Amino acid sequence: MAVIVSELEELQLAVLELKRELNAIIVAHNYQRPEVQDIADFTGDSLELARRCVGTEAEVIVFCGVRFMAETAAILNPFSTVLLSHPDAGCPLADMIDVETLGEWKESYPQASVVAYVNTTAAIKAESDFCCTSANGVEVVNAVPAEEILFIPDWNLGHYVSTKTDKKMILYPGFCYVHDRITAEQVELARQRYPQAKVLVHPECRPEVIDLADAALSTSQMLRYAKQSSDEVFLIGTEEGILHPLRKQNPEREFHIITSDFICADMKKTTLEMVWETMQTRSNVVTIPEETRTRARQSIDRMLEIT
Ligand code: 13P
Ligand code: SF4
Repeated sequence: MAVIVSELEELQLAVLELKRELNAIIVAHNYQRPEVQDIADFTGDSLELARRCVGTEAEVIVFCGVRFMAETAAILNPFSTVLLSHPDAGCPLADMIDVETLGEWKESYPQASVVAYVNTTAAIKAESDFCCTSANGVEVVNAVPAEEILFIPDWNLGHYVSTKTDKKMILYPGFCYVHDRITAEQVELARQRYPQAKVLVHPECRPEVIDLADAALSTSQMLRYAKQSSDEVFLIGTEEGILHPLRKQNPEREFHIITSDFICADMKKTTLEMVWETMQTRSNVVTIPEETRTRARQSIDRMLEIT
C-alpha cells in the first residue's frame, strides 16, 4: 500500500534529517506555531528553555522564539552555535530599555539592586544584578539582598511582584503590547460567556486584569495548573500559541482565549519553512561579545541559584 506523505510531514522529516546532520537540538517557546512546537526536542517557558540549554552537548541549538531567548541560550552555552529561527524575531518589550537609559536610572536609584526580566537584551542583562522570569519574579525579588529593587523593563510584571513583596519596587515603564492591551472589560465579557471557567492570565497583563483572574502564571505554569486542576473550562489570557500544548495535554478540557487577537507578531514570524532554511544555511547565528556574555551570565546564574 502506498504511503501518502503530506507536504508538512515532508518538511518535518527534512528538518529532523538536518537536525541529525548538524548534531542539533531544537527548542521552541510555548508561543510558537503548533507545527514548530511539534518538531522541537523541548518546548517550554523562558525559564524552562534557559534551564534546558545549560550544558547541552549539542553542537547547534536551533532556537524557535525571539531574539532575547536565543541570546540567553548563547550566554549559557558558549560552546554551542545558537541559530535564531527568524532573523527579525525580536521582542518590542526587550527593546524598550537601552544601556544608556538604564545607566541614568541606576544613577537616580544608587541604593537599588537591578532585577531584569529575562525579556531584555544581553547588554542589559550585563548591566543588571539579577535576572528573573515571569515564573520566578517574586522568588527572585524576595531573595535579593537589598531592600530597594529597580525592576526593568515590564511594569505590569513589576507591579504584580510588588503585590507579593515588602520590598520597595521602582518600576521602569515598559510593557508588552500583546498583553497590555487586554482590558478588564474583555475579561468580564469572556467570564459572562463561560461563567464556570477558571481564568489564567500572564503577569505581563495589567493589574486590573490580574485582579479579575484566578491566577497569574507563566506559560508553563499554566500548563501545570491545567493538568493538576479538576476544572474543565479555562479562559486563557496570554499569547494564543499556548492553546496548542494546553489542548494536546488535556484533550478532555476546554480552553478559550480571552480575545481572538492575542497574538505576538514576532513569535509568529517563525514558520517550519524558516526553521528548515535557517538550519540548511546555518544562518542567523547569535553572537554576543565575550565580555558582555560573562557579565550577563552572572545575572542569569544568580537567578538559577535562587530558583
Ligand atoms: P513566559 O515567561 O511564559 O515564557 O513568557 C514569555 C513572554 O515573552 C511573555 O510574553
Ligand atoms: Fe515580547 Fe510580548 Fe511577544 Fe512576549 S508576547 S515576546 S513580551 S512582545
